[in-house]
Amino acid sequence: MLKDIERVLVDEKQIDKINGELAQKIMKDYQNSTKPLIVIVILKGSMIFASDLIKKLDLPLEIEFMKVSSYGAGTKNSGEIKIHLDLARENLEQYDLLIIEDIVDSGRTLSRLTQLLKNRNANSVKTCTLLDKPSRREVPFTPDYCGAEIEDEFVVGYGLDYDEKYRNLPYVAILKREVYS
Ligand code: PRP
Repeated sequence: MLKDIERVLVDEKQIDKINGELAQKIMKDYQNSTKPLIVIVILKGSMIFASDLIKKLDLPLEIEFMKVSSYGAGTKNSGEIKIHLDLARENLEQYDLLIIEDIVDSGRTLSRLTQLLKNRNANSVKTCTLLDKPSRREVPFTPDYCGAEIEDEFVVGYGLDYDEKYRNLPYVAILKREVYS
């Protein structure tokens, strides 16, 4: 895989530092919550980030998984979200929800998913992303917690894929253009 990498963008040490800082902020915000916290891991990309982050959260929490995809603009389904794996929970008014994502790009996935879970009457819905590409935003969306803002580069690793590969790289790296063009 290394031959396909242009350069490392966020190395393992930087990721660990980011995760520690995010965990501190999250713990500060949730330490006095009266509702149980459910961390929702959005498959597949956020799996590795979420597993590292939650180990740093000294909070009582439960873990659930969702797999979703958003329809882009210009399709007849624009504005909707497709749920491939739904949250195995009811009575969401009894819970605080924290959605974990690897990256925010157009903003469609998280803006729609946040709205969907609010519509299901969750007590609160917040979002945490490792990476954000604000220059790519197509709908207004600001994550509650963000590890790092990055330029519009094609990044892989630490959960992020190109054609389902490279997710197992331990760092975030920029893919060589010749690999995907
Ligand atoms: C990626 C990423 C987010 C979404 C962000 O998922 O994990 O869920 O795209 O893009 P957006 O802000 O434009 O909506 P992807 O659909 O590639 O699935 P994966 O996590 O299984 O790789």
